[in-house]
Amino acid sequence: MPVDIARPNLTGRTGDRPKPPMRGGWAVVMVGLPARGKTYMARKLGGYLSWLGYETAVFNVGNYRRATFGAEVPASFFDPGNPEGVMARQKVAMAALDDLKDWHTSRGGQIAIYDATNSTRARRDLVAERLSAAGLNVLFVESVCEDQEIIEANIRATKLRAPDYANVSENDAVTDFRARIKHYEAAYEPIDDDSLSYIKVIDVGRQMVLNRIHGYVPGRIVNFLMNLHVLPRPIWLSRHGQSLANVAGTIGTDEALSPEGREFARNLASWVKGQNVDQLVVWTSTLQRTVETARLLGRPALQQKSLDEIDAGLCDGMTYGEIERKMPSEWRARQADKLRYRYPQGESYEDVIRRVDPLIIELERQRQPVLVIGHQAVLRALFGYLTGAEREAVPHLRIPLHTVLELVPRAYGCEVHAHKLGPTVAGASSS
Ligand code: SIN
Repeated sequence: MPVDIARPNLTGRTGDRPKPPMRGGWAVVMVGLPARGKTYMARKLGGYLSWLGYETAVFNVGNYRRATFGAEVPASFFDPGNPEGVMARQKVAMAALDDLKDWHTSRGGQIAIYDATNSTRARRDLVAERLSAAGLNVLFVESVCEDQEIIEANIRATKLRAPDYANVSENDAVTDFRARIKHYEAAYEPIDDDSLSYIKVIDVGRQMVLNRIHGYVPGRIVNFLMNLHVLPRPIWLSRHGQSLANVAGTIGTDEALSPEGREFARNLASWVKGQNVDQLVVWTSTLQRTVETARLLGRPALQQKSLDEIDAGLCDGMTYGEIERKMPSEWRARQADKLRYRYPQGESYEDVIRRVDPLIIELERQRQPVLVIGHQAVLRALFGYLTGAEREAVPHLRIPLHTVLELVPRAYGCEVHAHKLGPTVAGASSS
């Protein structure tokens, strides 16, 4: 019986805005058994490349399957000996591949990620042939993991939150998912074709094998994946306590904390103590308002120059009202395009995004909780990356004072909780 393939929305965006130049489009093809962290890697990689400005989209075949056949198909659907299941899976896989090619050729895409198991040589050959015929560079990323502890942790930490098991008890979900993995194992052939361009990530970065990796984009992907891991841990983002400049409404400068800002520093120290974490990485900028905010934590804090607030250049020390009155054309330019507007002799939000790029890699690498005490613009950039916000939205994200934003990256999204520690202070929106 013919099946209508449902086309879920793309997770990436297309548009006419400026993007980094690139010679030829790329298709990153994920490979590996279920519960090897492929979807997590695909989503994180997609978010990172799009945050860097590339037109990026993730095509998740599981989403096509869920949209077409419903979320709750039995494990036997994935049995390589079940001809109907094989045909149904082939159909959704090819529909996602067609959408990917279409996105590249007619919608201005740059880097597409094809998130599927692609676990047999025949399937990979077919995918590579169709992508190459569409003029795309193809890079395979295989996640290999034989460590049962990691697989088990992955099943519990990620699959039980997956849309397939939204309405299923934990035990039933684990039993069904193990049966699904067994079906895939029966047909799995790891990549061994040296003519392909591939990255093999073994046991979550314990070892990496690179084959035919050349060029800027693959290099960035290798660096990112080398530092990525799947262990859930919180990342806490906090602005400094209110500063005297916040009270005066001026931007930039390097002022000390106000009395309310000092109160926040005390609240933050007792909140962190209440989290009962043995190991905590603390980063501040080099400006005194963040250093002072961290002082009562009683833990070493690493000052990072790249966390300094956006450089307001000639506008440093002015209020927004003064900029509007004295430099109206600058004011209008900023209102028109806050992401790309660069303060005279200062920085733009795009500059800030580029500046914090190495910190993103460092943040991904950390296996223990991290507390970043920073400033509004730099935290907008970090928060935007971590939550997968649209790049254009980054300069407008809300990062309130005296609030810790807790983020826990997971396979199917990033959990966000806001902890308002107080005291409540007015406005203090800057840069
Ligand atoms: C899925 O249906 O979840 C993935 C299909 C596949 O790539 O094998």
